[in-house]
Amino acid sequence: MRTTYAGLVSEALMGQTVTLMGWAHRRRDHGGVIFVDLRDREGLVQVVCDPDRPEMFKTAEGVRNEFCLKVTGKVRPRPAGTENANLTSGKVEVLCHELEVLNPSVTPPFQIDDENLSETTRLTHRVLDLRRPYMQKNLMLRYRVSMEVRKFLDAHGFIDIETPMLTKSTPEGARDYLVPSRVHDGHFFALPQSPQLFKQLLMVAGFDRYYQITKCFRDEDLRADRQPEFTQIDIETSFLSEQEIRQMFEGMIRTVFRNVMDIELGDYPVMTYADAMRLYGSDKPDLRVKLEFTELTDVMADVEFKVFSSPATAKGGRVAALCVPGGGEMTRGEIDAYTEFVKIYGAKGLAWIKVNDIAKGREGLQSPIVKNLHDAALQTVLERTGAKSGDLIFFGADKAKVVNDALGALRVKIGHSDFGRRSGLFEDRWAPLWVVDFPMFEFDEDEQRWNAVHHPFTAPKDGHEDLMDTAPDQCIAKAYDMVLNGWELGGGSVRIHRADVQSKVFRALKIGAEEAQMKFGFLLDALQYGAPPHGGLAFGLDRLVTLMTKAESIRDVIAFPKTQRAQCLLTGAPSMVDEKQLRELHIRLRNTQAAPEASKG
Ligand code: AMO
Ligand code: AMP
Repeated sequence: MRTTYAGLVSEALMGQTVTLMGWAHRRRDHGGVIFVDLRDREGLVQVVCDPDRPEMFKTAEGVRNEFCLKVTGKVRPRPAGTENANLTSGKVEVLCHELEVLNPSVTPPFQIDDENLSETTRLTHRVLDLRRPYMQKNLMLRYRVSMEVRKFLDAHGFIDIETPMLTKSTPEGARDYLVPSRVHDGHFFALPQSPQLFKQLLMVAGFDRYYQITKCFRDEDLRADRQPEFTQIDIETSFLSEQEIRQMFEGMIRTVFRNVMDIELGDYPVMTYADAMRLYGSDKPDLRVKLEFTELTDVMADVEFKVFSSPATAKGGRVAALCVPGGGEMTRGEIDAYTEFVKIYGAKGLAWIKVNDIAKGREGLQSPIVKNLHDAALQTVLERTGAKSGDLIFFGADKAKVVNDALGALRVKIGHSDFGRRSGLFEDRWAPLWVVDFPMFEFDEDEQRWNAVHHPFTAPKDGHEDLMDTAPDQCIAKAYDMVLNGWELGGGSVRIHRADVQSKVFRALKIGAEEAQMKFGFLLDALQYGAPPHGGLAFGLDRLVTLMTKAESIRDVIAFPKTQRAQCLLTGAPSMVDEKQLRELHIRLRNTQAAPEASKG
């Protein structure tokens, strides 16, 4: 029926008769001539309806936005001066011979090309929202990314094996989505937070190289880069070292960028976790921002200013500075706004020094705190930060985590601000890197115990096995994250394949033999049968595509996403279920009523 896509009509088809199927994007009645912009997934073409074909013209008069149409006509040049350089079809138009309304549309609740729709409107009317060229482009790019990933993995001998959706809790550490069992009263499946344990079992089973592009489920607080169900490119391989795994998958992402977007990412820098925290206060630094922390903890131990000296002398405290070149032009109002901003991250304040004239020493500085710093300390601050006249130095002093979070966020905020872009503090480029050498454990202050930073099956660095018993804080893992433009794109680790090392990890985590057996017994059993050395990683496909499309949120690259409040506005899920369904599942609600049985659709 169709000879080509509307969006693909170009000069190449000049003079030919085409048949197109699509939607009326816009209809303009120029008294005598009617123009219909016909849209399909490939784009738009202008269709011209002349009154000299009265029957066709009458149909055109009845066409409204979003009618589904069949158009047959001849491709001809657009009149000079009316070309549209933004469209493939911008130099041509279709002179309509026959027009058929395949299906009319009721008046849509909004114009498809309205740029200012609220997300609620967009998600409620998702079908119409998905018709927008922006969403069509995003989802097509997503498809091309997953095809490139599959091609790469296939070429490297990886095979796609499915793993269960109804399973047991996995160790990623978020809250589980549970599914009640009808057959087993009081028992629940958990939806997988990732295929982690199954992919390790597949390695023990000898499949050697596994991948899957699969849904994962995590009931966690949502943000712009998080969804409760999201898609991982999940990978596991046997017999490769940490470096070999990183090299291969850096290659995969490079290939995807090259083949989908014609972008060369180049070799990735590799940064240790310790350096990332020291310089950027983050384990996913945005390297496009050209600002670094200056360490001052050692300098501030003996200053009079308690705000600095107490964290400098306390265990786990940190004092650091962020010197902003040219920041001297910031107004008090701007500094106050940044002070409010860092409070979101737990900072109690934001001390600062404006360097008006570096040559004048103290006299040349403007600041609420310099009076509290003795000469030697002040001198070291200026030297280490390398501050020049016209710069502004911000300070963070608190528990290391608060300083890192607050100054880390401030660094990104300033870098991305108009000021940052104007002052060359932001480089518009792709900035990938590996962050490696993560600690094995982090201390949970609330629960007073060590937790696994990645998950409890991550192997320690060679030679770090004994530190698990003696100094868990110094034990480094064979874990790595791929970071792009300040987002954690993927992460993984080399796994433990020896029972004795696994027991040490459980001991450090205070997971008893019985608990380990109950939670992960099936994996521990499998590891006994000659488990191969193995490791892997998982990429967030949604995040990857969000970055590639420069979409504002991860929801713009998912056909049917959930809102920030974990709801589907299109279907109304989650919804109440009736009493009969609950009874079958052996469930009684605590506070809410079940839906009356009659209301079930
Ligand atoms: P991890 O938990 O780091 O590792 O997840 C891997 C990647 O998945 C993406 N991701 C998410 N994307 C959107 N919404 C979310 N809620 C969300 N959570 C995670 C991120 C992240 O880098 N089994 C391990 C991997 C391994 O060790 O092989 C795992 O799941 O891009
Ligand atoms: P104050 O002594 O409370 O008047 O604070 C003096 C300056 O130090 C102000 O500019 C505060 O914003 C800043 N300040 C207070 N607490 C901290 C902190 N924990 N880290 C960095 N700056 C702080």
